[in-house]
Amino acid sequence: MALTNFKGKVAIVYSSVTGNTEELVRMVASCLQSRSMSTDLFQVEDFLRANMDDYDGLVIGTYTWGNGEIPVEMKPVYQEIERQHVRELATGVVGTGDSFYPSFCGAVDEFRDMLYVQTSLVATLKVELQPQFKDYEKCEKLAELMIEKIQSRTYSTV
Ligand SMILES: Cc1cc2nc3c(=O)[nH]c(=O)nc-3n(C[C@H](O)[C@H](O)[C@H](O)COP(=O)(O)O)c2cc1C
Repeated sequence: MALTNFKGKVAIVYSSVTGNTEELVRMVASCLQSRSMSTDLFQVEDFLRANMDDYDGLVIGTYTWGNGEIPVEMKPVYQEIERQHVRELATGVVGTGDSFYPSFCGAVDEFRDMLYVQTSLVATLKVELQPQFKDYEKCEKLAELMIEKIQSRTYSTV
């Protein structure tokens, strides 16, 4: 019996204006990399030129704009995932927001609903403004769940 040596690869795609979401996705990247998961970090504009097929996992990082809305620059990636209907892609969505607004991290909720239907959604994470040390633990949990999901596709040949 031979076991495949499948390790997988994750893309993190994000947008951040004042840096909170960038800090958060860098935490997630660090948690994935410390578990030996190959991880590429993209600002959303750069990811549209990359190939989603190259990845086994995708983490979306988004702030929330307007009245609980997805930022305009994140909409093309939302539409592209919806168009490709990638059920086998393990996904997570993380975001920062401000609970002063009625729809706290509304963009995370919008991505969550779409990713749940179109992909294999693993976890979501909402953070109040700038990530704190305590949020690192949550990023670790998200990274573990992503890796578990990706590696559960490892199979045996007999
Ligand atoms: C005009 C404006 C509208 C916002 N609307 C929301 C909102 O509806 N819900 C929310 O949770 N946060 C909202 N925020 C807060 C941002 O999402 C939050 O500051 C976030 O951490 C910014 O992320 P960034 O530092 O990665 O750019 C809004 C901020 C601004 C300036």
